Amino acid sequence: MKFTPIQKDIQTKARVGTLTTDHGTIQTPIFMPVGTAGTVKAVHQRELKEDIQAQIILGNTYHLYLRPGLDILEKAGGLHGFNGWDRPILTDSGGYQVFSLAGTRKINEEGVTFKSHIDGSKHIFSPEGVMDIQRTIGADIIMAFDECTPYPCEYGYARKSMEMTHRWLDRCIQRFDATEGKYGYSQTLFPIVQGSVYKDLRKQSAEFIASRGREGNAIGGLSVGEPAEMMYEMTELVTDILPADKPRYLMGVGTPANILECIALGVDMFDCVMPTRNARNGMLFTSEGIINIRNEKWKDDFSSIDPSIGNYASTFYSKAYLRHLTVSKEILAAQIASIHNLSFYLWLVGQAREHILAGDFAVWKDQMVKKVSTRL
Ligand code: GUN
Repeated sequence: MKFTPIQKDIQTKARVGTLTTDHGTIQTPIFMPVGTAGTVKAVHQRELKEDIQAQIILGNTYHLYLRPGLDILEKAGGLHGFNGWDRPILTDSGGYQVFSLAGTRKINEEGVTFKSHIDGSKHIFSPEGVMDIQRTIGADIIMAFDECTPYPCEYGYARKSMEMTHRWLDRCIQRFDATEGKYGYSQTLFPIVQGSVYKDLRKQSAEFIASRGREGNAIGGLSVGEPAEMMYEMTELVTDILPADKPRYLMGVGTPANILECIALGVDMFDCVMPTRNARNGMLFTSEGIINIRNEKWKDDFSSIDPSIGNYASTFYSKAYLRHLTVSKEILAAQIASIHNLSFYLWLVGQAREHILAGDFAVWKDQMVKKVSTRL
């Protein structure tokens, strides 16, 4: 993998770059649609590629390991072979899902013992095991096994957890570096900064992660219920420490406004379930603001969902029609809304990129943050 910083903004810490993997080049800053179980919910690969113009998607170790399981994935030639997506994939390590989804779980130095949310069966995730699993899934970028602390979290717990995440990282690195990709292309391992909302812990964690000299670095443990200002403060503290010549990935963030603010703080990569999950509940993100499409006010609004995005679904279908589909519980509603919201997220980061290159990012960002946060 190769990251090439292209241009840094003058007024903010935003930057533009390219990230090249064996499955193609990603233009940063970028948003990665979440494809938890090997599918970005309600969206075809062709739509992902041609309409939404996704450059990289995310998969989840936790879900894919439980179902379809590693045998099937390996026989298929990895996740790329299984779902047909031929651009880059990043997999999260399960360090988040095992805490948020699994039934009863026990954490100790060795790893996490948990019960499957599907059938209650018992499993163990260790740093080494999670590296092996991600080798088999075959993502281009794989994530270290970490503990994502909840919010609020007592200082003592946050410190101990961060220290364990650091020890787990060294075990991940050792295993990753001792093994090879299974499908003929290379993979890279991103470590994850933790430390909850404590400045000294975040600083210590960012320094530790930077010292491991991997090809990219991630920031975890944020957007877990803390106030946005606190998330921005932690993000900035960490991006100031993580090396500028490596991509920085802020995990699980966030709203369109969160993404713009964090691009300004020097983040290059984002993922979040919000555009797809909220689409399925009738919430649309548009260039003019947020729409609850179930609302009466849209029943006879025959204007396009959001023509400025320029993609097919957002231009072709009207708000009134999508409202009708949504209140009628038609499955096409989820498809149109998901394609629209993802197209909007990809459009937004693409616009950010263009404004960084044009030199007017700061002004554009402030005005856009207001717009995209408005409830219409
Ligand atoms: N997704 C969102 N936050 C996190 C985190 O802290 N760790 C991992 N592994 N995934 C995440």
